[in-house]
Amino acid sequence: MERARDVKKVHPAVVSAQAFQVADHRPVERLFEDAEGKDRRDKALSRYPEKKGALLPMLAYAQERNGWISANNMEEIALTLDLTPAYVRSVATFYTMYAKRPVGKYWIQVCTCISCHVNRGEEVFEAFLEHTGTRAGEVSDDGKWTVIEAECLGACGFATAVQVNDQYFENVTPETVPEVLAQLEKGGSEE
Ligand code: FES
Repeated sequence: MERARDVKKVHPAVVSAQAFQVADHRPVERLFEDAEGKDRRDKALSRYPEKKGALLPMLAYAQERNGWISANNMEEIALTLDLTPAYVRSVATFYTMYAKRPVGKYWIQVCTCISCHVNRGEEVFEAFLEHTGTRAGEVSDDGKWTVIEAECLGACGFATAVQVNDQYFENVTPETVPEVLAQLEKGGSEE
């Protein structure tokens, strides 16, 4: 398959940062203006002695609500927590688990860190790209799939580990990638 860029030379952090290299002209979606948003904000703030402690839960809420975290969402979170937008971005871009641009219905994160690397993690990553017909970080034409490389997913004993939305798949090989995709299309894991 011909690729616009060589995925082996693109670190996941670069894919994540692309959203900040262009102006965002999409309508601003406020997180904390409706009743649900206010409730989630207040609950997050009540759990920590300092406002700053609520940063990760608020980023998680933005992703849960919108499927990804826009620069506008980060600015709103920064204002809410008395932080700078740069600080919030620095945290959001540190974690591959936070999507910094729109992703497909199934956001597939393939670990290629050391344990998964020695268990064919890169081949698994390539297999997901091939079977979904996408390039790293892009949304498939049908809106279903986005595949990225991820940092360690904390399942090193079950390499190669793959996280799809909130679901884990373990011991994935290039050969079992079509099974994983089929399970997702059927609505979940059989594990
Ligand atoms: Fe892949 Fe830890 S190295 S889950």
